[in-house]
Amino acid sequence: MARAQLDTQTTAVGALLEVVGAGLGVPCLDGVERPYVDLDCAASTPSSVAVAAAVADFLPRYSSVHRGAGFKSRAATEAYEAARSRALRYAGREGGTDTAIICRNTTEALNHLAYRLRLERDDVVLTTVLEHHANLLPWARYAQRRYVECGADGTFGVDDVVAGLDAAPAPKVLAVTGASNVTGWLPPVEELCAAAHARGIPVVLDAAQLAPHRPIPAGRGGADGPDFVAWSGHKMYAPFGAGVLVGPAAAFADGEPFLAGGGAVELVDLDEVLWSEPPEREEAGSPNVVGAVALGAAADELSGIGWEAISRHEAVLADRLRRGLAAIDGVRLLGPPPGTETLAVATFTVDGMHHGLVAARLAAEFGIGVRHGCFCAHPYLLRLLGIGPDGVAAARAGALRGDRRHIPGAVRASAGLATTLGDVDALLGALEAVISGTPSPVRYVQDTATGDFFPATTAGWWAFSSGVGGGCARS
Ligand SMILES: Cc1ncc(COP(=O)(O)O)c(C=O)c1O
Repeated sequence: MARAQLDTQTTAVGALLEVVGAGLGVPCLDGVERPYVDLDCAASTPSSVAVAAAVADFLPRYSSVHRGAGFKSRAATEAYEAARSRALRYAGREGGTDTAIICRNTTEALNHLAYRLRLERDDVVLTTVLEHHANLLPWARYAQRRYVECGADGTFGVDDVVAGLDAAPAPKVLAVTGASNVTGWLPPVEELCAAAHARGIPVVLDAAQLAPHRPIPAGRGGADGPDFVAWSGHKMYAPFGAGVLVGPAAAFADGEPFLAGGGAVELVDLDEVLWSEPPEREEAGSPNVVGAVALGAAADELSGIGWEAISRHEAVLADRLRRGLAAIDGVRLLGPPPGTETLAVATFTVDGMHHGLVAARLAAEFGIGVRHGCFCAHPYLLRLLGIGPDGVAAARAGALRGDRRHIPGAVRASAGLATTLGDVDALLGALEAVISGTPSPVRYVQDTATGDFFPATTAGWWAFSSGVGGGCARS
């Protein structure tokens, strides 16, 4: 449909955050260099300029933390502990009995927690079919899982969760995402926490997608906040390899830590070990001090911008993105309809065109970076696509043969604080061009092993990336 018919706001929305690499030139297939349009923010965001500056400022003082007596070690320790306090403050948990464990990312935080909750094999963890694999697979290692199903629109209601909480045997934990990385849908976390806590069941919040976009509901034993929260720096403009697990210190006070080693102990004899108190008990080995400093700086920067400004910016982008996609003939927007409150994330398919080809054409012809595949949330995406057991079995058989050409998937566009309305319009315009039959300058070929499409030319950046693959269906 014509752009003029789109029911979108006309307000100009620029970047709310300055990021490193904004406007980077991308050589396209027609020989023109275009500014990179980064619509893959749900995967990883670029570094903000302020975070990069905080890291550069810290690096001269970088040293090992906690153990050294010298000035640099003391200064680095102070910076590291300040970052921990910032993470706690960001989660609304400063000044109480909670602790923040610095780890690599959300995946590590959830694996760490699943180990530390001392679940037994027959215990039940209630989770949902919306979850990223990071909030599905760790629980399977230690307990049984019970799932809250979603409807065709990819959402569920509080009643669905209550039914799971009330089923026998009672779950030991509710593990839920704060926002879907596929549809951007925001489950009613506070209501879910209230329902779980009314039954004495603790809540684990996967805040990987929520943390950069909305305030984390504060917990501290209150009825409407999660008990444990995990999130990643690289999705909040601090891509220096640190993530956080926040929870009551008491949960980590006894038992074996997730990792055993130096830094987590008071005293070691050949037969005995006296573990430290948390959080040190949970951070064996040399921590990622630079990553922590970056994460702390990002937390302060986002808090400084303020949730109202962030939500307003993203609401305009989400509206334009989702309504714009839904209005294009041949595009099927997955998940709740436009008008539902979501993050500025949209996952879609294009009739008659492989998701990998759509993503490849956007990248190579328009300089637009999106993601395609299943987004590490296979159960959810299969439901949204309406693929049943036969389709899954066929895809699995293909993957086992090394043929990933027919693995189901979709395309995801996700915005961040540096995204402008112009970026969203660039995507909509490019899609309209591709769908309306604008020919590509060269033909594309699909790689059997990865399922990805690449322009059939040896010139250009796609030549070096072709061996690596860009889809996430395999993850
Ligand atoms: C909802 C959600 N949970 C967990 C993760 C895992 O995060 P990480 O890769 O930083 O461990 C992601 C990453 O995309 C995510 O979107």
